[in-house]
Amino acid sequence: MKIFLTGASGLVGSALAQAAHRRGHHVIGTVGRYAGSVAGLREKLPLDLTDASALTQTVLDHFPDVIVNAAAVADPAQCDADPGRAQALNVELPTQLARLAHHMSARFVHISSEQVFDGTAAPYAVGAQPNPLNLYGRQKLASELAVRAAAPTFAVIVRAPLLLGNSLSGSRSLHEKLFADWAAGRTPRFYTDEIRQPCSAGNLAEVLLELCERTDLAGLFHWAGAAPLTRHEIARRLREHFKLSESTAPLASITRADHPAEAAKRPASLALELTPLAGLLKTVPESFGTLLDQLVIPPSCRAWYLAQ
Ligand SMILES: NC(=O)c1ccc[n+]([C@@H]2O[C@H](COP(=O)([O-])OP(=O)(O)OC[C@H]3O[C@@H](n4cnc5c(N)ncnc54)[C@H](OP(=O)(O)O)[C@@H]3O)[C@@H](O)[C@H]2O)c1
Repeated sequence: MKIFLTGASGLVGSALAQAAHRRGHHVIGTVGRYAGSVAGLREKLPLDLTDASALTQTVLDHFPDVIVNAAAVADPAQCDADPGRAQALNVELPTQLARLAHHMSARFVHISSEQVFDGTAAPYAVGAQPNPLNLYGRQKLASELAVRAAAPTFAVIVRAPLLLGNSLSGSRSLHEKLFADWAAGRTPRFYTDEIRQPCSAGNLAEVLLELCERTDLAGLFHWAGAAPLTRHEIARRLREHFKLSESTAPLASITRADHPAEAAKRPASLALELTPLAGLLKTVPESFGTLLDQLVIPPSCRAWYLAQ
């Protein structure tokens, strides 16, 4: 199968390129600023995805069976910092890709986010009412609506949870950010009353690939890890997994009541119901222990880690 993958240098895109290669697919992947190699790609294409005409030409030149969109401005703070760029990547890009997929009768697989929900009524079923609290969540919701309108037959949209994995930059995943903080002598703070249901980028990549292959499935789905955890618990389990002590790897506990202005833009609980997708696929929701076993120490922090 020929897959056109946007965001191949990202946390999800790089995991998907490797998983697709293992399954024998031909993957053409776009990258933005990342200059290194991306394992699993048959072709790596540097391309500014905000250049709509270059994108259309490139997609039509390759005429793929499937388009997977893993490009985005996926950090809510970056969306707030540059709303115009975020709108182009998070809304206009998937809309254009969905139209192209529809035109080519290609499948379109798009990733949305748990952040479309306000966090007050978890666990969220696929049909639950979205009510995003931040710009990123509003853009992801807008992308869902636009994709479904542009490619009603061929589009699959997966709302994903907090993701961890070994990123190409070594700085994208939560565990990589934690290591960077600890190595710099900082004490990262984590909410004890904010709940997420994390899974690995690799596990999500397997799901997305199955959806590339399963032409009988279309529409909107949820995917996440097997169990909800507080953000503080996630950080504490990461510290334990890497056998770091509380003194070398400190964590501060905070609550939403301590930071009301910040909490107003952060959903409290984003546990997701995984039906109907879990059960329809061979890939199963991952335990947090399985996720932890896949993580490596980011290369830039190895010397610090070995010195502990
Ligand atoms: N990470 C999470 O916890 C999470 C959770 C839920 C949902 N999601 C969703 O999952 C998807 C993938 O997220 P991710 O975390 O893998 O994102 P990421 O690691 O931040 O990667 C973003 C990708 O987009 C590319 N990109 C950005 N602007 C570009 C531009 N103008 N031209 C070309 N490429 C550009 C980047 O390329 P360069 O780096 O080469 O510039 C990179 O490959 C997104 O839809 C995100 O909303 C993520």
